[in-house]
Amino acid sequence: MKLQTQVGIVGAGPAGLMLAHLLNLEGIESVVIENRSRDYVQERVRAGVLEQGTVDLMIRTGVGERLLRQGLVHKGIEIRFNGEGHRIDLHALTGGRAITIYGQNEVVKDLTETRIASGKPLFFECEDVHVSGFDAEAPRIDFRHSGEGHQVRCDFIAGCDGFHGVCRPSIATGALTIYERTYPFAWLGVLARVAPSSDELIYANHERGFALHSMRSPQLTRLYLQCTVDEDLSAWPDDRIWDELQRRFETRRGWTLRRGPIEQRGVTPMRSFVAEPMQFGRLFLAGDAAHIVPPTGAKGLNLAIADVLVLSKALAEFYSHGSSDALNGYSSTCLARVWKVQRFSWWMTSMLHRFPDETAFDRRRQTAELEYLTSSRAAAQSLAENYVGLPI
Ligand code: APR
Ligand code: PHB
Repeated sequence: MKLQTQVGIVGAGPAGLMLAHLLNLEGIESVVIENRSRDYVQERVRAGVLEQGTVDLMIRTGVGERLLRQGLVHKGIEIRFNGEGHRIDLHALTGGRAITIYGQNEVVKDLTETRIASGKPLFFECEDVHVSGFDAEAPRIDFRHSGEGHQVRCDFIAGCDGFHGVCRPSIATGALTIYERTYPFAWLGVLARVAPSSDELIYANHERGFALHSMRSPQLTRLYLQCTVDEDLSAWPDDRIWDELQRRFETRRGWTLRRGPIEQRGVTPMRSFVAEPMQFGRLFLAGDAAHIVPPTGAKGLNLAIADVLVLSKALAEFYSHGSSDALNGYSSTCLARVWKVQRFSWWMTSMLHRFPDETAFDRRRQTAELEYLTSSRAAAQSLAENYVGLPI
Protein backbone atom coordinates (compact mmCIF):
# COMPACT_ATOMS: atom_id res chain seq x y z
CA MET A 1 0.00 0.00 0.00
CA LYS A 2 1.29 3.48 -0.85
CA LEU A 3 0.43 6.50 1.26
CA GLN A 4 1.28 10.14 0.75
CA THR A 5 1.33 12.61 3.62
CA GLN A 6 2.99 15.80 4.80
CA VAL A 7 4.73 14.48 7.94
CA GLY A 8 5.60 10.82 8.56
CA ILE A 9 5.87 10.22 12.30
CA VAL A 10 7.80 7.21 13.63
CA GLY A 11 6.76 6.26 17.18
CA ALA A 12 3.48 6.60 19.09
CA GLY A 13 4.92 7.56 22.47
CA PRO A 14 4.15 10.96 23.99
CA ALA A 15 6.33 12.77 21.42
CA GLY A 16 4.85 11.16 18.29
CA LEU A 17 1.24 11.31 19.44
CA MET A 18 1.44 14.90 20.69
CA LEU A 19 3.11 15.97 17.44
CA ALA A 20 0.34 14.29 15.41
CA HIS A 21 -2.24 16.09 17.55
CA LEU A 22 -0.62 19.54 17.26
CA LEU A 23 -0.16 19.13 13.50
CA ASN A 24 -3.77 18.09 13.10
CA LEU A 25 -4.84 21.31 14.85
CA GLU A 26 -2.73 23.23 12.33
CA GLY A 27 -4.37 21.39 9.42
CA ILE A 28 -1.19 19.45 8.63
CA GLU A 29 -1.57 15.80 7.59
CA SER A 30 0.51 13.04 9.18
CA VAL A 31 0.80 9.27 9.45
CA VAL A 32 1.93 7.69 12.74
CA ILE A 33 3.85 4.39 12.66
CA GLU A 34 4.43 2.42 15.89
CA ASN A 35 6.06 -0.99 16.21
CA ARG A 36 4.42 -2.06 19.49
CA SER A 37 0.78 -2.86 20.21
CA ARG A 38 -1.65 -0.26 21.51
CA ASP A 39 -1.95 -2.14 24.83
CA TYR A 40 1.79 -2.36 25.30
CA VAL A 41 2.30 1.38 24.77
CA GLN A 42 -0.60 2.31 27.04
CA GLU A 43 0.23 -0.03 29.90
CA ARG A 44 3.98 0.59 30.08
CA VAL A 45 4.56 2.31 33.45
CA ARG A 46 6.85 5.32 33.10
CA ALA A 47 7.29 8.60 34.99
CA GLY A 48 4.30 10.63 36.08
CA VAL A 49 5.14 14.27 36.73
CA LEU A 50 3.83 16.90 34.32
CA GLU A 51 5.31 20.38 34.30
CA GLN A 52 2.95 23.32 34.36
CA GLY A 53 3.70 24.04 30.68
CA THR A 54 2.84 20.46 29.66
CA VAL A 55 -0.44 20.65 31.58
CA ASP A 56 -1.28 24.06 30.08
CA LEU A 57 -0.57 22.78 26.56
CA MET A 58 -2.76 19.71 27.03
CA ILE A 59 -5.64 21.80 28.33
CA ARG A 60 -5.25 24.50 25.67
CA THR A 61 -5.27 21.96 22.84
CA GLY A 62 -8.28 19.99 24.07
CA VAL A 63 -6.63 16.83 25.47
CA GLY A 64 -6.70 17.81 29.15
CA GLU A 65 -10.20 16.81 30.13
CA ARG A 66 -9.31 13.61 32.04
CA LEU A 67 -6.08 15.23 33.27
CA LEU A 68 -8.14 18.00 34.88
CA ARG A 69 -10.39 15.44 36.58
CA GLN A 70 -7.80 12.86 37.65
CA GLY A 71 -4.45 14.67 37.81
CA LEU A 72 -3.15 15.48 41.28
CA VAL A 73 -1.88 19.04 41.54
CA HIS A 74 1.15 19.32 43.85
CA LYS A 75 2.36 22.66 45.12
CA GLY A 76 5.45 21.37 46.87
CA ILE A 77 7.92 18.51 47.22
CA GLU A 78 9.90 17.23 50.18
CA ILE A 79 13.66 16.74 50.34
CA ARG A 80 14.61 14.34 53.13
CA PHE A 81 18.10 13.78 54.54
CA ASN A 82 19.76 13.17 57.91
CA GLY A 83 16.44 11.93 59.25
CA GLU A 84 14.56 15.16 58.56
CA GLY A 85 12.17 16.37 55.88
CA HIS A 86 12.29 19.85 54.28
CA ARG A 87 9.46 21.14 52.12
CA ILE A 88 10.21 23.09 48.95
CA ASP A 89 7.19 25.30 48.35
CA LEU A 90 7.11 25.21 44.54
CA HIS A 91 3.98 27.35 44.39
CA ALA A 92 5.26 30.21 46.54
CA LEU A 93 8.72 30.15 44.94
CA THR A 94 7.50 30.31 41.32
CA GLY A 95 4.67 32.83 41.50
CA GLY A 96 1.90 30.24 41.65
CA ARG A 97 3.11 27.40 39.43
CA ALA A 98 2.79 23.71 40.29
CA ILE A 99 3.30 20.19 38.94
CA THR A 100 0.61 17.62 38.21
CA ILE A 101 0.88 13.91 38.94
CA TYR A 102 -0.55 12.01 35.97
CA GLY A 103 1.05 8.88 34.52
CA GLN A 104 2.80 9.07 31.17
CA ASN A 105 0.71 6.09 30.05
CA GLU A 106 -2.44 8.10 30.83
CA VAL A 107 -1.15 10.91 28.59
CA VAL A 108 -0.55 8.29 25.90
CA LYS A 109 -4.10 6.90 26.34
CA ASP A 110 -5.66 10.36 25.98
CA LEU A 111 -3.60 11.21 22.91
CA THR A 112 -4.25 7.82 21.28
CA GLU A 113 -7.99 8.23 21.74
CA THR A 114 -7.86 11.74 20.29
CA ARG A 115 -5.91 10.48 17.29
CA ILE A 116 -8.30 7.61 16.66
CA ALA A 117 -11.32 9.92 17.03
CA SER A 118 -9.79 12.25 14.40
CA GLY A 119 -9.91 9.37 11.90
CA LYS A 120 -6.30 10.10 10.86
CA PRO A 121 -3.85 7.24 10.23
CA LEU A 122 -2.14 5.56 13.18
CA PHE A 123 -0.61 2.10 12.68
CA PHE A 124 0.31 -0.13 15.63
CA GLU A 125 2.36 -3.34 15.45
CA CYS A 126 4.40 -2.29 12.42
CA GLU A 127 7.41 -4.41 11.54
CA ASP A 128 10.67 -3.69 9.71
CA VAL A 129 10.25 0.08 9.93
CA HIS A 130 12.82 1.76 7.71
CA VAL A 131 13.37 5.48 6.97
CA SER A 132 15.20 6.79 3.89
CA GLY A 133 15.43 9.65 1.40
CA PHE A 134 15.50 12.37 4.07
CA ASP A 135 18.93 13.57 2.94
CA ALA A 136 17.33 14.50 -0.38
CA GLU A 137 13.83 15.69 -1.27
CA ALA A 138 12.21 12.26 -1.06
CA PRO A 139 11.71 11.12 2.54
CA ARG A 140 9.96 7.80 2.82
CA ILE A 141 9.07 5.26 5.48
CA ASP A 142 8.74 1.58 4.63
CA PHE A 143 7.20 -0.95 6.99
CA ARG A 144 5.17 -4.13 7.17
CA HIS A 145 1.72 -4.22 8.74
CA SER A 146 -0.59 -7.25 8.96
CA GLY A 147 1.74 -9.10 6.63
CA GLU A 148 1.64 -6.43 3.91
CA GLY A 149 4.33 -4.01 2.76
CA HIS A 150 3.54 -0.29 3.15
CA GLN A 151 5.28 2.81 1.94
CA VAL A 152 4.70 6.35 3.20
CA ARG A 153 6.03 9.19 1.08
CA CYS A 154 6.20 12.50 2.94
CA ASP A 155 7.73 15.97 3.02
CA PHE A 156 9.35 15.44 6.43
CA ILE A 157 10.00 12.58 8.86
CA ALA A 158 9.67 13.08 12.60
CA GLY A 159 11.82 10.56 14.49
CA CYS A 160 9.80 10.16 17.71
CA ASP A 161 10.82 6.53 18.20
CA GLY A 162 12.59 6.77 21.53
CA PHE A 163 16.15 5.92 22.52
CA HIS A 164 16.18 2.48 20.86
CA GLY A 165 14.39 3.54 17.67
CA VAL A 166 15.52 3.36 14.04
CA CYS A 167 15.61 7.06 13.09
CA ARG A 168 18.72 8.25 14.93
CA PRO A 169 20.84 5.27 13.72
CA SER A 170 19.68 5.98 10.14
CA ILE A 171 21.58 9.27 10.10
CA ALA A 172 25.01 9.04 8.43
CA THR A 173 27.79 8.25 10.89
CA GLY A 174 29.77 11.33 11.67
CA ALA A 175 26.82 13.68 11.13
CA LEU A 176 25.83 13.55 14.82
CA THR A 177 27.86 14.40 17.88
CA ILE A 178 26.92 12.30 20.90
CA TYR A 179 27.30 13.55 24.47
CA GLU A 180 26.79 10.86 27.07
CA ARG A 181 27.19 10.07 30.74
CA THR A 182 26.19 6.88 32.48
CA TYR A 183 25.69 6.54 36.22
CA PRO A 184 26.99 3.75 38.45
CA PHE A 185 23.53 2.90 39.78
CA ALA A 186 19.91 2.33 38.71
CA TRP A 187 16.41 2.59 40.24
CA LEU A 188 14.33 -0.32 41.39
CA GLY A 189 10.77 0.93 40.92
CA VAL A 190 7.51 -0.52 42.21
CA LEU A 191 3.86 0.33 41.80
CA ALA A 192 1.88 -0.64 44.92
CA ARG A 193 -1.87 -0.76 45.48
CA VAL A 194 -1.86 1.32 48.64
CA ALA A 195 -2.68 4.93 49.51
CA PRO A 196 0.38 7.22 49.35
CA SER A 197 2.08 7.74 52.72
CA SER A 198 2.52 11.47 52.10
CA ASP A 199 0.53 14.09 50.21
CA GLU A 200 3.62 15.12 48.25
CA LEU A 201 6.65 13.56 46.57
CA ILE A 202 9.59 12.77 48.85
CA TYR A 203 13.16 12.69 47.51
CA ALA A 204 15.37 11.04 50.15
CA ASN A 205 19.16 11.01 50.36
CA HIS A 206 20.07 8.26 52.84
CA GLU A 207 23.30 6.53 53.87
CA ARG A 208 21.96 3.38 52.20
CA GLY A 209 21.10 5.18 48.97
CA PHE A 210 18.44 7.31 47.32
CA ALA A 211 14.71 6.65 47.65
CA LEU A 212 11.69 8.37 46.09
CA HIS A 213 8.07 8.33 47.20
CA SER A 214 5.67 9.22 44.40
CA MET A 215 2.14 8.25 43.47
CA ARG A 216 -0.30 7.76 40.63
CA SER A 217 -3.65 8.19 42.40
CA PRO A 218 -5.12 8.22 45.93
CA GLN A 219 -4.95 4.39 45.80
CA LEU A 220 -1.63 3.85 44.00
CA THR A 221 1.85 4.57 45.33
CA ARG A 222 4.95 4.65 43.10
CA LEU A 223 8.25 4.06 44.89
CA TYR A 224 11.86 3.85 43.80
CA LEU A 225 15.11 2.93 45.49
CA GLN A 226 18.66 3.26 44.27
CA CYS A 227 20.13 -0.12 43.35
CA THR A 228 23.06 -1.47 41.33
CA VAL A 229 23.01 -1.35 37.51
CA ASP A 230 22.80 -5.15 37.28
CA GLU A 231 20.39 -5.60 40.19
CA ASP A 232 18.70 -9.01 40.22
CA LEU A 233 14.97 -8.48 40.81
CA SER A 234 14.55 -12.04 42.04
CA ALA A 235 16.70 -11.11 45.05
CA TRP A 236 14.02 -8.59 46.06
CA PRO A 237 10.97 -10.27 47.56
CA ASP A 238 8.27 -7.79 48.59
CA ASP A 239 9.31 -7.68 52.26
CA ARG A 240 12.87 -6.79 51.39
CA ILE A 241 11.67 -3.92 49.17
CA TRP A 242 9.37 -2.54 51.87
CA ASP A 243 11.99 -2.89 54.64
CA GLU A 244 14.62 -1.14 52.54
CA LEU A 245 12.27 1.69 51.58
CA GLN A 246 11.19 2.12 55.21
CA ARG A 247 14.82 2.46 56.32
CA ARG A 248 15.66 5.01 53.66
CA PHE A 249 12.62 7.16 54.43
CA GLU A 250 12.94 6.93 58.22
CA THR A 251 13.00 10.19 60.13
CA ARG A 252 14.16 11.00 63.62
CA ARG A 253 10.61 11.70 64.71
CA GLY A 254 9.41 8.42 63.21
CA TRP A 255 7.71 7.89 59.87
CA THR A 256 5.89 4.85 58.60
CA LEU A 257 5.57 3.87 54.97
CA ARG A 258 2.22 2.26 54.13
CA ARG A 259 2.60 -1.19 52.58
CA GLY A 260 0.37 -2.94 50.07
CA PRO A 261 0.38 -5.44 47.20
CA ILE A 262 3.08 -4.72 44.63
CA GLU A 263 1.53 -4.74 41.14
CA GLN A 264 4.50 -3.96 38.97
CA ARG A 265 8.28 -3.82 39.41
CA GLY A 266 11.26 -3.02 37.24
CA VAL A 267 14.77 -1.62 37.08
CA THR A 268 15.32 1.76 35.38
CA PRO A 269 18.82 2.52 34.08
CA MET A 270 20.22 6.04 34.48
CA ARG A 271 21.76 7.90 31.60
CA SER A 272 22.36 11.43 30.32
CA PHE A 273 22.51 11.54 26.51
CA VAL A 274 22.26 14.21 23.81
CA ALA A 275 22.61 13.79 20.03
CA GLU A 276 23.42 17.00 18.15
CA PRO A 277 22.03 18.37 15.95
CA MET A 278 18.46 17.16 16.31
CA GLN A 279 17.93 17.43 12.56
CA PHE A 280 19.49 15.90 9.46
CA GLY A 281 18.03 17.00 6.13
CA ARG A 282 14.31 16.35 6.31
CA LEU A 283 14.50 14.11 9.37
CA PHE A 284 13.78 15.75 12.73
CA LEU A 285 14.48 13.91 15.99
CA ALA A 286 12.27 14.63 19.01
CA GLY A 287 12.03 13.31 22.57
CA ASP A 288 14.01 10.27 23.71
CA ALA A 289 15.22 9.68 20.14
CA ALA A 290 17.40 12.76 20.58
CA HIS A 291 18.08 12.92 24.32
CA ILE A 292 17.76 11.02 27.58
CA VAL A 293 17.85 12.45 31.08
CA PRO A 294 18.22 10.44 34.30
CA PRO A 295 14.76 10.14 35.91
CA THR A 296 15.55 12.29 38.97
CA GLY A 297 13.30 15.30 38.41
CA ALA A 298 11.04 13.47 35.92
CA LYS A 299 11.93 15.60 32.91
CA GLY A 300 11.90 13.03 30.04
CA LEU A 301 8.27 13.31 29.06
CA ASN A 302 8.19 17.09 29.49
CA LEU A 303 11.27 17.53 27.28
CA ALA A 304 9.64 15.39 24.59
CA ILE A 305 6.52 17.56 24.67
CA ALA A 306 8.58 20.77 24.46
CA ASP A 307 10.42 19.44 21.37
CA VAL A 308 7.26 18.62 19.46
CA LEU A 309 5.67 21.94 20.34
CA VAL A 310 8.66 23.70 18.75
CA LEU A 311 8.55 21.32 15.76
CA SER A 312 4.83 21.74 15.18
CA LYS A 313 5.17 25.53 15.15
CA ALA A 314 8.10 25.36 12.73
CA LEU A 315 6.17 23.03 10.39
CA ALA A 316 3.12 25.30 10.60
CA GLU A 317 5.28 28.26 9.57
CA PHE A 318 6.65 26.24 6.66
CA TYR A 319 3.25 25.18 5.37
CA SER A 320 1.48 28.50 5.89
CA HIS A 321 4.22 30.97 4.84
CA GLY A 322 6.68 28.79 2.95
CA SER A 323 9.44 29.80 5.34
CA SER A 324 12.07 27.27 6.46
CA ASP A 325 13.63 29.60 9.03
CA ALA A 326 11.95 28.03 12.04
CA LEU A 327 12.65 24.50 10.77
CA ASN A 328 16.31 25.43 10.32
CA GLY A 329 16.34 26.76 13.88
CA TYR A 330 14.55 23.71 15.35
CA SER A 331 17.64 21.97 16.66
CA SER A 332 19.28 24.99 18.24
CA THR A 333 16.00 26.21 19.77
CA CYS A 334 15.39 22.81 21.39
CA LEU A 335 18.99 22.18 22.43
CA ALA A 336 19.23 25.46 24.35
CA ARG A 337 16.50 24.20 26.67
CA VAL A 338 17.54 20.52 26.52
CA TRP A 339 20.97 21.34 27.97
CA LYS A 340 19.48 23.34 30.83
CA VAL A 341 17.24 20.40 31.65
CA GLN A 342 20.20 18.03 31.32
CA ARG A 343 22.06 20.13 33.85
CA PHE A 344 19.13 20.11 36.26
CA SER A 345 18.57 16.33 36.00
CA TRP A 346 22.29 15.65 36.47
CA TRP A 347 22.39 18.01 39.45
CA MET A 348 19.37 16.43 41.19
CA THR A 349 20.88 12.99 40.53
CA SER A 350 24.30 13.98 41.89
CA MET A 351 22.84 15.58 44.98
CA LEU A 352 20.58 12.71 45.98
CA HIS A 353 22.46 9.45 45.24
CA ARG A 354 25.34 7.62 46.88
CA PHE A 355 28.22 7.14 44.44
CA PRO A 356 30.27 3.93 44.81
CA ASP A 357 33.53 5.83 44.27
CA GLU A 358 32.68 8.85 46.42
CA THR A 359 35.25 10.20 48.87
CA ALA A 360 34.57 11.56 52.36
CA PHE A 361 34.96 15.00 50.82
CA ASP A 362 32.25 14.25 48.25
CA ARG A 363 29.85 13.11 50.95
CA ARG A 364 30.44 16.23 53.07
CA ARG A 365 29.99 18.44 50.03
CA GLN A 366 26.73 16.65 49.18
CA THR A 367 25.38 17.24 52.69
CA ALA A 368 26.39 20.90 52.46
CA GLU A 369 24.53 21.13 49.15
CA LEU A 370 21.37 19.72 50.73
CA GLU A 371 21.70 22.02 53.74
CA TYR A 372 22.17 25.03 51.49
CA LEU A 373 19.21 24.03 49.29
CA THR A 374 16.88 23.67 52.26
CA SER A 375 17.99 26.82 54.09
CA SER A 376 18.41 29.37 51.30
CA ARG A 377 15.42 30.84 49.51
CA ALA A 378 17.59 31.56 46.47
CA ALA A 379 18.74 27.93 46.22
CA ALA A 380 15.23 26.54 46.76
CA GLN A 381 13.87 28.94 44.16
CA SER A 382 16.38 27.70 41.60
CA LEU A 383 15.22 24.11 42.18
CA ALA A 384 11.57 25.20 42.07
CA GLU A 385 11.75 27.08 38.76
CA ASN A 386 13.44 24.12 37.10
CA TYR A 387 11.13 21.57 38.72
CA VAL A 388 7.90 23.23 37.56
CA GLY A 389 9.51 23.68 34.14
CA LEU A 390 11.60 26.30 32.35
CA PRO A 391 9.80 28.38 29.73
CA ILE A 392 9.54 26.73 26.31
N1 APR B 1 9.33 1.81 14.63
C1 APR B 1 8.22 2.37 15.12
N2 APR B 1 8.09 2.75 16.41
C2 APR B 1 9.14 2.53 17.21
C3 APR B 1 10.35 1.96 16.74
C4 APR B 1 10.41 1.59 15.38
N3 APR B 1 11.50 1.02 14.88
N4 APR B 1 11.21 1.90 17.78
C5 APR B 1 10.57 2.39 18.84
N5 APR B 1 9.33 2.78 18.52
C6 APR B 1 8.29 3.33 19.39
C7 APR B 1 8.31 2.77 20.80
O1 APR B 1 7.64 1.52 20.87
C8 APR B 1 7.60 3.84 21.58
O2 APR B 1 6.21 3.65 21.66
O3 APR B 1 8.51 4.71 19.58
C9 APR B 1 7.90 5.11 20.79
C10 APR B 1 8.84 6.04 21.55
O4 APR B 1 8.19 6.47 22.71
P1 APR B 1 8.98 6.83 24.07
O5 APR B 1 10.09 5.86 24.28
O6 APR B 1 7.96 6.96 25.12
O7 APR B 1 9.69 8.23 23.75
P2 APR B 1 9.09 9.70 23.61
O8 APR B 1 7.78 9.70 22.91
O9 APR B 1 10.21 10.51 23.11
O10 APR B 1 8.75 10.13 25.08
C11 APR B 1 9.72 10.41 26.03
O11 APR B 1 9.42 8.48 27.32
O12 APR B 1 11.24 7.18 27.91
C12 APR B 1 10.28 8.06 28.36
O13 APR B 1 11.30 9.16 30.15
C13 APR B 1 10.94 9.25 28.81
O14 APR B 1 9.01 10.16 29.62
C14 APR B 1 9.89 10.24 28.56
C15 APR B 1 9.24 9.86 27.32
C1 PHB C 1 7.27 8.99 39.15
O1 PHB C 1 6.23 9.24 39.76
O2 PHB C 1 7.37 7.99 38.42
C2 PHB C 1 8.44 9.89 39.28
C3 PHB C 1 8.32 11.03 40.05
C4 PHB C 1 9.39 11.87 40.19
C5 PHB C 1 10.59 11.58 39.59
C6 PHB C 1 10.71 10.43 38.82
C7 PHB C 1 9.64 9.58 38.65
O3 PHB C 1 11.65 12.39 39.77
